[in-house]
Amino acid sequence: MDSDTLRKKFLEFFANREHQHTIVPSSSLIPDDPSVLLTTAGMQQFKPYFMGKADPMRDFGSKNTVSVQKSFRTSDIDEVGDESHLTFFEMLGNFSFGYKPGEPVSSTGGYFKKEAIGYGYDFIVKELGLRIDYVSVFEGDKEVPADTESEKIWKSLGIADVRRMGREDNFWGPTGIEGPCGPTTEIYVKSSEGKSIEIWNIVFNEFYCNSDKTSRKLEIPGVDTGMGLERLAMVVENVPTIFDTDLFSPLMAMMPYDMDIRRKRVFADHARGIVFLVSDGVRPSNKEAGYVLRRLLRRIIVYGEEGIDIKKAFKKILSLYCGFYPELNANAVDEVLNGEYQTFSRTLKRGMKELGEGSALDAKSAFRLYESYGLPYEIIKEAGGRRADNLRREDFDKEFERHRAVSRKGKEKKFGGHGLILHTGELKAANEEEVKKVTRLHTATHVLQASLRKVLGGEVRQAGSDITAQRTRFDFTFPRKITKEELRKVEDMANSVVERGFDVIMKEMAYEDAIRNGALAFFKEKYPDRVSVYSVVDENGEVFSQELCGGPHVKNTEEIGHITIVKEESSAAGIRRIRATVTP
Ligand code: SER
Repeated sequence: MDSDTLRKKFLEFFANREHQHTIVPSSSLIPDDPSVLLTTAGMQQFKPYFMGKADPMRDFGSKNTVSVQKSFRTSDIDEVGDESHLTFFEMLGNFSFGYKPGEPVSSTGGYFKKEAIGYGYDFIVKELGLRIDYVSVFEGDKEVPADTESEKIWKSLGIADVRRMGREDNFWGPTGIEGPCGPTTEIYVKSSEGKSIEIWNIVFNEFYCNSDKTSRKLEIPGVDTGMGLERLAMVVENVPTIFDTDLFSPLMAMMPYDMDIRRKRVFADHARGIVFLVSDGVRPSNKEAGYVLRRLLRRIIVYGEEGIDIKKAFKKILSLYCGFYPELNANAVDEVLNGEYQTFSRTLKRGMKELGEGSALDAKSAFRLYESYGLPYEIIKEAGGRRADNLRREDFDKEFERHRAVSRKGKEKKFGGHGLILHTGELKAANEEEVKKVTRLHTATHVLQASLRKVLGGEVRQAGSDITAQRTRFDFTFPRKITKEELRKVEDMANSVVERGFDVIMKEMAYEDAIRNGALAFFKEKYPDRVSVYSVVDENGEVFSQELCGGPHVKNTEEIGHITIVKEESSAAGIRRIRATVTP
């Protein structure tokens, strides 16, 4: 069974008539929750439902959902290269929000331990025909009692080896500084090499952990499960490592025969992570998610010197994954690699030379190498050899943070401490006249985005917008300054759409259908199950622009009036900003 079949089987198993879960598409790797850098688990997009702040019946028509979630964990970065750790991975998960004891188990009733464990058992043993080696349950501590209920359920299913484990292994959450959390039960299966690996983590969200580390019992408990597709594929395909599964093997086969196996794996992991991060709008920078991306990029650029064609590797990844993830963006990946290569290759050789000389490396000297030559920690640690024996990631990170704090202070002084706030599609109009003007600007923004994409390429993606009765301000991903010539082309194209008078049509459809049809969605927005899609359509019915949007919009583009781009500038690393006005 290949991994594509596994994804489908998992979704179908939970969505079928018997189990009645609603399939929810993966959310972006850039989470809504500002307290977390990247999406690390399937449950993240469902946090409001676990907390009772959003209604799953309204949004999904069910209290139970299932997803294949793109996830990225920086915490495992030093482990990558072994048989089973990754930064980016796909997480299969089923979720239930709002179980009330006594209610019948159904899409409207939700479920808890007995069903969650039963479904896990059925999928692994009956659907996939695997043998469970052992399972673990929470052993209990001062705050949370031992999970004897799960233990009993497993035994009733005929699993004899139930191991009690501590908080470190069998307690999940919260993600970010606060959120749902609770005891877990985990399923272990033997690999082809006879090693036991954990494949499925079933969490019972019974508590809410506060930011001060105290916790309270959640009124309505929930279920959150996560199973790494790569590990599951490894045991199903009966291969010794995740890199031997069909998710990786075509990529591994492209690497030089005599390259060190660990380095091959790191390359494969990082290259895949880059493709997904860039496609979700992350751009290399020196902070937060952008810094994570930069480190991955620079490491594979260094490894590329061993004779790997990085562009070809990216193409292979895109071809392996674009079927399930239509959002993957080949142009953006290419541009980002070119850009980073240009920045980094200027200093790489000198940096590596310096790294090869001198005395022992500590956090300070390592950080100096990063600052002067852009060499990230991983490369220094690896290429520094014995001299980097005493170099620790925590110390390097501390040095990095100390340095950033100093430069942040300097900046705050300069700008008086005001941060930059992005408003997204907020209408700030007051009277009818203004509402009309804002509506025209709103449609103009769609027309401009489509024109930008046609002139500059598909990597242009909305990164924020703000519309007032005076102007629209639109932020979008793009790696460089836009030339005068290009701006003129965009403006001309937008105005020809106005002059030709294209119809603006609104249709309601399922979110998944909208995305499949190629409608643009703003990745920071949370979309409900059914969405409105606004299309701008030419005389022959050809779609010029298509976006998920709440409106309002004009009925025909001739109502917009003449569009003028008044300014183009950089708004953040990899993000450009334009301002435009409309005149009757
Ligand atoms: N949130 C848990 C995990 O990520 C289960 O999905 O392991």
